Amino acid sequence: MKRIYIIALGIGVSLAACTSKKATTSTASPADVVKEMQTKYTEAQREEGKTLWQGNCQKCHKLYQPETRTVGKWENVLPRMNKRAKLTDEQAALVRAYLIANAKV
Ligand code: HEC
Repeated sequence: MKRIYIIALGIGVSLAACTSKKATTSTASPADVVKEMQTKYTEAQREEGKTLWQGNCQKCHKLYQPETRTVGKWENVLPRMNKRAKLTDEQAALVRAYLIANAKV
């Protein structure tokens, strides 16, 4: 069940990412998104995201620390990098949760 929920969330996020490209303003502020990552995901899930990030995100370059990028920047970069790292939607959602929960404010 949990797995299905995370996949559904991943799809929802991708859809939202597509539609938000056309929109001129985003409804959720960066602070809202950070809070969402901190509350929607458990500490254990974010830790799993961190492990996935360490394992998959330094194959081509150094590990970019979460606090070196803003929420907006991560939202921009992650879809591209998730594809490069060949992450599943579920893995990508966990990596995103970890990075954005700790992003630059
Ligand atoms: C197959 C190689 C590859 C993998 C795997 C990869 N990246 Fe990258 N990454 C690149 C390349 C090439 C660039 C520079 C060009 C660009 O920005 O697209 C880059 C740039 C970046 C940047 C800097 C972008 C900027 O403009 O500041 C960040 C942050 C980043 N990657 C994060 C990640 C994360 C997080 C992951 C894991 C999900 C990841 N990368 C996995 C190849 C990769």
